[in-house]
Amino acid sequence: MDELKRSFIEQFGDQGGLTSYFAPARVNLIGEHTDYNGGHVFPCALTLGTYATARKREDRTIRLYSMNFEESGIIEVQLDDLRFIENDDWANYPKGVAAIFQQAGYEIDSGFDVAFYGNIPNGSGLSSSASIEMLTAVILKDLFHLEIGQIEMVKLAQKAENEFIGVNCGIMDQFSIGMGKKNHAILLDCDTLDYQYTPINLKNEKLILANTNKRRGLANSKYNERRQQCEAALSSLQEKLNIKTLGDLTREEFEAHKHLIQDELIRKRAKHAVYENNRTIEAVEKLNAGDVRGFGKLMNESHISLRDDYEVTGKELDVLVEAAWNEGAIGSRMTGAGFGGCTVSIVPDDRVDSFIEAVGKTYKAETGLEAEFYVADIGDQAKKL
Ligand code: GLA
Repeated sequence: MDELKRSFIEQFGDQGGLTSYFAPARVNLIGEHTDYNGGHVFPCALTLGTYATARKREDRTIRLYSMNFEESGIIEVQLDDLRFIENDDWANYPKGVAAIFQQAGYEIDSGFDVAFYGNIPNGSGLSSSASIEMLTAVILKDLFHLEIGQIEMVKLAQKAENEFIGVNCGIMDQFSIGMGKKNHAILLDCDTLDYQYTPINLKNEKLILANTNKRRGLANSKYNERRQQCEAALSSLQEKLNIKTLGDLTREEFEAHKHLIQDELIRKRAKHAVYENNRTIEAVEKLNAGDVRGFGKLMNESHISLRDDYEVTGKELDVLVEAAWNEGAIGSRMTGAGFGGCTVSIVPDDRVDSFIEAVGKTYKAETGLEAEFYVADIGDQAKKL
């Protein structure tokens, strides 16, 4: 924080009046590609995240600086002219949130200066973009004394990602970052936004994140294509079934009606969405009953479904997960959108070191890439510090 404040003063001058903020990264434990299908997810906020120091200005200029992108320097924009500009790169996220707040009728009555610093590995699928979006939302609320609740901010941050950035994501990332709670995961029904905190008190295990270090551009990925395939499946099913989302179906109902979906590929996509949603509810029941092994087994099934039916894993994630299974993980799966990014594993305490060494070695041998490992610490939601 001291370094960030120093950096702010170096860039924007020392006139006092600084306030600091934090927004976490997130990891999803189970329930992947279910959020935009009206299903359940089970993510938690991490202690990794993005920090900001900010100050209001007298004029209508916004100046943005990131210690992670020093070479881009200060990006300066006008409050009354917030447009997506490719070259502004990372700064489009804070710009987008400010634009969407304005559009929603929240009055931002002056410009402001912000310096950012994040320790979320970039492109790792731990939601660095939703983190900076929620961070901006918290900054705007505080600097401009906006009467806005946390869930409304979550919705606007998602809207910024959908409409300003152009990535058609669901609500999981912004929700977990906006509503996360230390040592808890959130079981969220993405259709109703009903949610429940579940304590994650692993007594003899650690949550290990492993980064494939394979760059993954979410916007350019097959993400939007998967969404469209699920929408196509839903409309085929709706010819006979009175359902609003794929998340409305049990596995049995799906099996009894899947013939309505002609295309085999689309049927597989829908199968993942339905099974994964049901699996997520079941997994949380297991965890609540203290059955960590049962939870881990469902994590493994989740990965297999994402690999075979949803086809969003790819070689790097598969190698990491299979190595984790072989090295004593109680459960291991890809997390986030897929196509690269991170895996999450539950590993017995006494195997953590050998796990990291052996999985890293196998991964290097099979892909030529260096994996990075983190012990995940479950932290709190986006907030003023
Ligand atoms: C990305 C999206 C989320 C969600 C996941 C997949 O992280 O931003 O909304 O769809 O992929 O579960």
